[in-house]
Amino acid sequence: MAAIDSQELHDFLEKLVQDYEAMKSPILTMLNRIQERYRYIPVEALYELSQMTSYSFGDLNALVSSFEDLTTEPVGEHLILVCDGTACHAVGSVDVIKAVEDELGIRCGTTSEDGKYTLKSVYCVGACSLAPIAMIDGVSFGRIKLTKLDDMLASLRTEAAS
Ligand code: FES
Repeated sequence: MAAIDSQELHDFLEKLVQDYEAMKSPILTMLNRIQERYRYIPVEALYELSQMTSYSFGDLNALVSSFEDLTTEPVGEHLILVCDGTACHAVGSVDVIKAVEDELGIRCGTTSEDGKYTLKSVYCVGACSLAPIAMIDGVSFGRIKLTKLDDMLASLRTEAAS
């Protein structure tokens, strides 16, 4: 096996880091800023961004698809995320998802017709000791009991109706 040319390796890594800094971070930051503003990333934004940057629409779409937190689907006024990672799944996340579906009358992965609620399952949010865990509008609720969940959803509905 040929020895590695250390200068060539250095040059290669330097370019790799430059490319990463120049390409990845700013575009991800931009995508996150768009999502912060609109609560999702409109497809039009991807088209327009592809005209303004060196990224093709396909590149941008693939990038958005590779991050669970990013979405091109409009999100309801209230976003309910239920973790369905291994630990949460083992202690009943499926029942939590079903309870939310029944309570709000929507299927997981969709938004209610009135645009008030979006329900999604996500994979491991890094708080496995609190399984099962759900997040409502960015607030985490751990060791969810179905009775507690009913109360939470009822207060969400009351708040949405007022
Ligand atoms: S599996 Fe749900 S927080 Fe890790």
